[in-house]
Amino acid sequence: MLDTRFNGQLREQSTQSGRADLNQPKLEVREICKSYSNRGKELVVLEKINFQLDPREFVCLVGVSGCGKSTLLNIVAGLTTPSAGQVLVDGQAVTGRPGSDRGMVFQGYTLYPWLTVSQNIAFGLQLRKMSKAEQRERVAYYLNVVGLTQFAKAYPKQLSGGMKQRVAIARALANEPEVLLMDEPFGALDAQTKEQMQQFLLELWEQTHTTVLMITHDVEEAIFLSQRIYVMSSHPGRLQLEIPVNLPANRHLEIKLSSEFVEIKRQILHALRGE
Ligand SMILES: Nc1ncnc2c1ncn2[C@@H]1O[C@H](COP(=O)(O)OP(=O)(O)OP(=O)(O)O)[C@@H](O)[C@H]1O
Ligand SMILES: [Mg+2]
Repeated sequence: MLDTRFNGQLREQSTQSGRADLNQPKLEVREICKSYSNRGKELVVLEKINFQLDPREFVCLVGVSGCGKSTLLNIVAGLTTPSAGQVLVDGQAVTGRPGSDRGMVFQGYTLYPWLTVSQNIAFGLQLRKMSKAEQRERVAYYLNVVGLTQFAKAYPKQLSGGMKQRVAIARALANEPEVLLMDEPFGALDAQTKEQMQQFLLELWEQTHTTVLMITHDVEEAIFLSQRIYVMSSHPGRLQLEIPVNLPANRHLEIKLSSEFVEIKRQILHALRGE
């Protein structure tokens, strides 16, 4: 499904960027706290969240609904201001909205319905005032990566759910972000499409080795995709447990039936139930 040119090209870009340093964490979240005040009462959503992602790591955060996952990811993306703490990419504190350093794929479908698939993918490139020729080249490239070249001129309403999320992923990747942030990107898909998308995302990551921080409440999805998992507890949201996923890098869906996989799932489910 993937164009093999992708491999060489992106790796070259990340080493050429001059910011990539394999000895330094790609992403650091330091002492992040977030509270909301609600009718005079303080609601502590996140309390002292600390973690790091190494370059090219794929890490998932899992937690029950309402524990603060989206709040945390939105803080990392720069869409929400933390009450305290700092987010660093390549050792530099980040401020403001997602840009070329942090690409975001949101919960649910967030394509612009009035723009074609190509125009959706080009959106961030246009904002960055990239030349039209370069935009065309990048859009064509990422359309190919997500296997949607024939749908370049289609509108989002003409696409299936899985295709829409592939466009959203292409849109985020087109900016060639240092870190790809994903908030339940497959949450709205049926079970079979979701599994296809998991396999697709894993292949994409194996080819690109983009650093990914993804949120999901699907425990199997987290284990299948990631190298490390953080389990969040709620009220207030804290990182309760860190679980390394020592499964082979080259994974296929059948791995979900292996005893190693089932054992990791058991540990996470225990933690989520507060046992
Ligand atoms: N703008 C806001 N004002 C007040 N409270 C908020 C705000 N945004 C989020 N919250 C509260 O923060 C908590 C965490 O919300 P968040 O959306 O981060 O949870 P989540 O883990 O992503 O849940 P889900 O799995 O359902 O997406 C919830 O209790 C929510 O009510
Ligand atoms: Mg959420």
